Amino acid sequence: MKKYMQFLLLLASISSTSALLASGGFSEDGAKQMPAVANAKWKTECSGCHMLYHPGLLPERSWHQIMLGLDKHFGENASLDAATRDEISRFLALNSADKQDNRRSNRINQSIPAGATPLRISQTAYFTSKHDEVSAATFKRKSIASAANCLACHPAAEKGDFSESQIKIPR
Ligand code: HEC
Ligand code: HEC
Repeated sequence: MKKYMQFLLLLASISSTSALLASGGFSEDGAKQMPAVANAKWKTECSGCHMLYHPGLLPERSWHQIMLGLDKHFGENASLDAATRDEISRFLALNSADKQDNRRSNRINQSIPAGATPLRISQTAYFTSKHDEVSAATFKRKSIASAANCLACHPAAEKGDFSESQIKIPR
């Protein structure tokens, strides 16, 4: 009986430790998850064709490049008037991966070579390393469409929450 109680106590301490780890919290280099951010124009103009990509997923130079090339944006014309474009650009820059202090953004930023300016989160070394177990065929499923559709598998992606406990791959 005593042994059994000890075992239960051990189990309880293991699960509370992993719950603590899974909840993210704070680490030596900032919180694990990206903070929720908001800007009304960004929300309206950048969610019409796809999910909203959290600014903490790319460095400032990538957002800058994306915002300067909206007339030829991944085969689409996503042009905006200058005032709207500049406001969204400022918002993205202020909250970009190289301005954030959270573990996710730091890792993404570190995975990009200094001379590179990726226009896709889905092509950063960080993304590739985190998804090496997801096959190309899975990304192409009708319910998913492409690796860029984070929201299909990470239901809280637009809030910047990519925690493992939330991941669900649709059939
Ligand atoms: C007219 C449609 C349209 C609008 C509006 C639009 N986009 Fe896109 N965007 C696309 C398409 C199409 C892709 C490629 C999606 C794919 O590969 O599945 C894309 C891809 C992206 C990607 C790369 C995703 C990845 O990691 O592969 C980023 C970042 C992005 N858009 C940012 C923005 C921002 C910021 C705005 C607002 C200023 C915006 N988009 C508005 C059509 C649009
Ligand atoms: C087909 C489903 C799918 C899509 C689409 C997808 N992911 Fe993931 N993602 C996963 C899976 C599965 C894992 C967990 C891999 C593992 O644990 O080995 C993961 C892991 C992650 C992690 C690490 C989580 C952690 O805490 O370890 C991040 C960050 C992430 N994805 C971001 C993204 C972003 C950003 C996008 C879109 C540009 C995206 N994912 C698109 C399935 C997906």
